[in-house]
Amino acid sequence: MNEADSGTRRLFFALWPNPEVRRQLAKVSHSRTRHPVADANLHMTLLFLGGRTARELDCFCEAAGNLQGEAFELQLDYLGAWARPRIQWLGTSCIPPALQQLVDTLQQGLAPCGIDAGKRRFVPHVTLSRKEKNPRVKAGLEAVHWQARDFVLAESVSAQGGVRYDILQRWPLADATRA
Ligand code: 2AM
Repeated sequence: MNEADSGTRRLFFALWPNPEVRRQLAKVSHSRTRHPVADANLHMTLLFLGGRTARELDCFCEAAGNLQGEAFELQLDYLGAWARPRIQWLGTSCIPPALQQLVDTLQQGLAPCGIDAGKRRFVPHVTLSRKEKNPRVKAGLEAVHWQARDFVLAESVSAQGGVRYDILQRWPLADATRA
């Protein structure tokens, strides 16, 4: 039974790039990989939730709405690799504390919704390719600068020719430089 048949939706929290950042990410994915993911699918997952019911979705939205996160700048300057799943990704040599904080508070905030995020370390990454034969590691890339001012709850939908991601809701992050 797939998720649509079981009445659940495949959900995840993510940072969603604006068109200019997306253009820069796509430039990297096209120049560094042989099988780039669709440009429209480039994003950074904050927390993967899997197949969830409408009631759970409501709980996630309420929890996210109560969360107080701060905006931050990401400098994506590190090409990372997971060899076995053949994933080539773009990450950072310097995780902004506000990003880690956002993930931690999300995990804590979602606990009452029944989400146990486990103990796996968060590795911030944008998947560039899922079919890379020999994904490589390279530090010191010319950075893609990403001002993260909000985060989203997204749904992964099976579509013709692959997967599509729909944004269900968006929440702002507070600008820490403004009093
Ligand atoms: P990714 O973050 O490595 O790209 C929607 O499917 C998003 O959730 C994708 O970005 C995907 O991987 C991530 N994702 C999919 N399945 C996952 C899983 N089982 N555990 C963690 N993240 C997953």
